[in-house]
Amino acid sequence: MKKSDPHILVIFGASGDLTKRKLIPALYELHTQDLLPEDFAVLGVSRTELSDLNFREKMTEFLPKEPQFRNDIDAFLEHLHYQPISTSDSTGYPVLKSRLEQLGKELSITENYIFYLSTPPNLYQIIPKNLAEVGLNDSSNGFKRLIIEKPFGTDLNSAKELNRNLLNYFKEDQIYRIDHYLGKETVQNMLVTRFSNGIFEPIWNHNFIHHIEIISAETLGVEDRGGYYDHSGALRDMVQNHLMQLVGMVAMEPPVVIEADAIRNEILKVFQSLRQLQKEEVAKHVIRGQYTQSKIGKDVVKGYREEPGVDPQSRTETFLAMKFYIDNFRWAGVPFYIRTGKKLPARVTEVVIHFKNTPHHLFGNQDNNEPVNNQLVLRIQPDEGILLKIGMKVPGAGFRVQTVNMDFHYSELSDIYLPSAYGRLLLDCMQGDATLFARGDSVEKAWQYVQPILDAWQNNPDIPIYGYPAGSWGPEVVDGLMEEGLWRYPCKNLNHDGEYCEL
Ligand code: BG6
Repeated sequence: MKKSDPHILVIFGASGDLTKRKLIPALYELHTQDLLPEDFAVLGVSRTELSDLNFREKMTEFLPKEPQFRNDIDAFLEHLHYQPISTSDSTGYPVLKSRLEQLGKELSITENYIFYLSTPPNLYQIIPKNLAEVGLNDSSNGFKRLIIEKPFGTDLNSAKELNRNLLNYFKEDQIYRIDHYLGKETVQNMLVTRFSNGIFEPIWNHNFIHHIEIISAETLGVEDRGGYYDHSGALRDMVQNHLMQLVGMVAMEPPVVIEADAIRNEILKVFQSLRQLQKEEVAKHVIRGQYTQSKIGKDVVKGYREEPGVDPQSRTETFLAMKFYIDNFRWAGVPFYIRTGKKLPARVTEVVIHFKNTPHHLFGNQDNNEPVNNQLVLRIQPDEGILLKIGMKVPGAGFRVQTVNMDFHYSELSDIYLPSAYGRLLLDCMQGDATLFARGDSVEKAWQYVQPILDAWQNNPDIPIYGYPAGSWGPEVVDGLMEEGLWRYPCKNLNHDGEYCEL
């Protein structure tokens, strides 16, 4: 792979959690894979007073601890530097600029800069403006790119305003809106499964597909993020971004070429074709839930309202299930289902394609055979892989049919390195490839789609929020939403399923 051009990666919010938990480990991973340029530096920026050495020390928290990695980690840490400034105050930016120039001279790096905004979202409006005021948006002497973390707005209007504001200072092709789901290898593999296999593409439509289920379940609760989460909820936190991007990947038309705009145009078209829910339909098609205290084994598990930072009367949803349609030629009449939630029995994300049954149930009279429901399960995480459920004759007399699994697990590719989502996305940005980043127009479209749900919940407190015991699969009423059969209850191993599974 071609190495990226030498550059400095400036991380705003460098003393925050995301930097040490995700970004630095992802950069270390790129370093060990020899994917970083020779001339490369990270400049951590935040208000906290730290020296380069203090910063390096802090950044080791989530790096491997085993002695055999020591030398490699030391070599990596040499790339890390730190500059304290108050990011909300424009007076710090000339200081930042001269530090970048000085580092550039010392390390022979031209003025190629990536600015990663890993800060509270209220600074997304301010930092780009301050950068622009000192000319740090000007690409004439080297690239200037801006990576923006989620949440990208909290509703349609704020997302539009944020886009408008960013475009005052940076051009669209300089802006990289990160959605870490797009960085997952298995999410990208959906395009390869669909568009490189002659057996799948012809049947990937309403003629052969009965319905599609997308689930993203987590065992964790809100942990120490109650303050943020209580103003967000599952719809904003997971659906508007990560799960809508999955819908885009499953449902899009083949792009003309594998290039950023070609792919992003197709994702946008999917969002444009979503059948907009009317406010009065929300209660019927979208079910929200919130986990309540329960006992799992011997442990009493807190309910959401008891979590730190959460309003004891909170009506924020920690679970959501919804049914929707994509009104276009490919998907006319095919129901799509989404389920996501915290404190569910397993951590698992997958897309399940349920195919239509054969037109005639030939083996129906034999030993109570049920029709076979062919399913293609695209497992995003964990136990990443693909599973096809097909009917097979049980050996012996008669024609007894049993559903069996054909499965592929990424773990079988032992010699292949699976990059982390952040590693992949950072590398793509370093190479100027925006394919796996969300474009401004599609982010707005996704907000436009979820806005009536937000409005209905806000304006109509009669729409119920159902409690579900922590550790269960969500509110019972969710069964009634699925009109096309049964939900799949996945387990942590791809080829296990059923209501009960290993934890
Ligand atoms: C984040 C959400 O964007 O994605 C979290 O804010 C959620 O609430 C996380 O837990 C899920 O990501 P992953 O990669 O663990 O599925």
